[in-house]
Order: sequence, then structure tokens, then C-alpha cells
Amino acid sequence: MTSKTRFATMVAVAGMVFQSSLILTALAVPGSKPPAKKPKAAAAKTKTAAKPDAQLVAAGKKIYDSKGCSACHAIGGKGGNSGPDLTATGAVPTHTVQWLSVQVANPKAHNPDSTMPGFAATIPAKDLTAISTYLVTLKGSGPSGSSSATAPVKKGPGPDPAVVAKIEKLGGMIGPVAQNDDHLDINLHLAGANVSDASLTSLAGLKGVVRLDLGTTPITDAGLAKIKGMKDLTELHLEGTKITDAGLADIADMKNLTYLNLYNTGITDAGLAHLTKLTNLKHLYLWQTKVTPEGAAKLKQSLPQADINLGWEQPAAKKP
Ligand code: HEC
Repeated sequence: MTSKTRFATMVAVAGMVFQSSLILTALAVPGSKPPAKKPKAAAAKTKTAAKPDAQLVAAGKKIYDSKGCSACHAIGGKGGNSGPDLTATGAVPTHTVQWLSVQVANPKAHNPDSTMPGFAATIPAKDLTAISTYLVTLKGSGPSGSSSATAPVKKGPGPDPAVVAKIEKLGGMIGPVAQNDDHLDINLHLAGANVSDASLTSLAGLKGVVRLDLGTTPITDAGLAKIKGMKDLTELHLEGTKITDAGLADIADMKNLTYLNLYNTGITDAGLAHLTKLTNLKHLYLWQTKVTPEGAAKLKQSLPQADINLGWEQPAAKKP
């Protein structure tokens, strides 16, 4: 089949694949190998998210109100602040109904050090869907709602088929982040050692890439220099690559990043100096790097919103 049809097929399964790849990624940090891919059949269960059902949204709001979420989260200025503001949580491209359901049921699946309680035991699956359907409707401009990642998604022609073909030939994956969202998710982690700095040249021209996984590929700073212009990225995986402190200068202006994984790289405190402008960053993984607790604490001063994870202890406790 042609790249174009391949891409269309991807649209159908992307929601689920993206979701499972997120979970796999979360599980894969650190050390352990990513578990085997889920069987394709699971993709068939992906729901079409055409129009949020008004009844479901209303039910979801009720559940949100009854489960004490607002003790930690604010929506439209009301609620606590020990968790992130959710006023615009639905505007984040990666926050699909599936992602949100996992977040609420088992926050540790997204962040092993999550301090949010899991609701898997107290919110049944049906209610989880309702609460997540409600949360995806929240697109108000909160503190995190000003980035270009929140711009409405236009149905475009899709990415250049030649680039899609190249990525697939390497053994990687490219597709929209969700059925109703044409932002792109590129996973080259799957392609591993096939990927080189040169492979990234063709990615540079793609628009609207919000998630890029280069984990465990042998890319270096020269590769980072090629993707420097990908300013829509919200999630970037560089774990297990050969990048150095100097290379981080090329991601200094990726202001939409909310997730950055540098696990098992040669990064030191000096490299963190390039990250101080990433004010949307929420999760930074620094396990098995040369970063010191002092270096992490220093970055935390510039990025108080970020959860900077060194793998053994949190550099600063969250406000009660
Ligand atoms: C005890 C405080 C607390 C409670 C109660 C709580 N959360 Fe959270 N929540 C957090 C924290 C802290 C985070 C930040 C990320 C993490 O640690 O997982 C978070 C993250 C989230 C996120 C991801 C937001 C983002 O931008 O990354 C969502 C969505 C969310 N919570 C929804 C809920 C819902 C829905 C409920 C109620 C069923 C709830 N939370 C209850 C503390 C809480």
C-alpha cells in the first residue's frame, strides 16, 4: 500500500497506539525494556471522539465535583493549587479521553512519582470515561493555555508522504496524535539503532509535530541541531541518546515542551542552564545523568512548575 493509505490507516489506530506508546514509555523509564506492543485488535475499541456527548459531559462534571478533585486542582479560578490548573487541560493535544482516564485511574502510569492519588478503585470505568470526556471539553485559556499548541487543529493534507515512507522504512512510526487531531506523533524509538543524525534531516520540514520519541537512538548534538525548529513539540524523548550539554542549546526555545526525558544521557548541571526558558515544562527526567541535586534545585528556581526527577528524591516538595 502507498504511504498515503498507510497514513490514513494510521489515523484509525493512532488514538490507541499513541495512548499505549505513552504508557509503554512511562513504564520504560528507567532501565526496563519497553514491553511488547499491544495486539492490533485493541485498536478496534478506540472510540470516535466526534462530538462530546452533552449528557456524558454533565455526568463527568458531577463526578469531578463529588470526588474531591478540586481540593488540588482549579478550574476557572476555583479550587486548590497542589495539582496543575485544569482550566485548559483539554487544549493540550496529548490529553485525549484515553490519556485522561489513565491519569485519573492511575497517575503513576504517566509519572512514577506522581503525588496525585489514583482513582482506579473508587471511580468505575464508565464514570472515568465521563470525567475524562468532561475534562477534554476544558479549553479555556488558563495559565498554560497561551501556547500555539492550543490553536485549533485544521484538517490538512497530512505530512509529506515521502517523509512518512522514510520514517516507516527505518522502522519508526508517524501518525496524528488522535482521530480528531492532526498534530503529529513521531516515534523513532522503535527504529532504535537504524536512526542516525542524518535521518532527522527530513523531519525538520514537518509541521505540527507535538510528540517526538528519539529514545535509545544513537543521535548526537548534530541531530538535535536539525530538529531545532520543531517549536510545536510538547513531548520530547532523548533518553539513552548520545546528546551532550551543548546540544540542549537547540531545545532552549521549544517553549511548548511539557515533557522532556533525558534519562541515561551524559547531561550535567551545565546543560540545565539551557532549559530555563521552558516555562511549560512539567516533567523532566534526569535519572542516570550527571546532574546533581544542587543543579536540579537551581533549575527548579527558574521552573517552579516543573517536576524535576532525579530518580531518588524530589528536589523540592510541592506546596501543601
Ligand atoms: C491530592 C491532590 C490531588 C487530587 C485529589 C487530584 N489530583 Fe490530579 N493531579 C495532582 C498532581 C500533583 C498532578 C500533577 C502530575 C502528577 O503528579 O501526576 C495531577 C495531575 C492531574 C492531571 C494532569 C494535568 C496535567 O496538565 O498534566 C489531571 C487531568 C488530573 N490530575 C485530574 C484529576 C481529577 C479528575 C481528579 C479527581 C478525580 C484529581 N486529579 C484529583 C494532584 C491531585
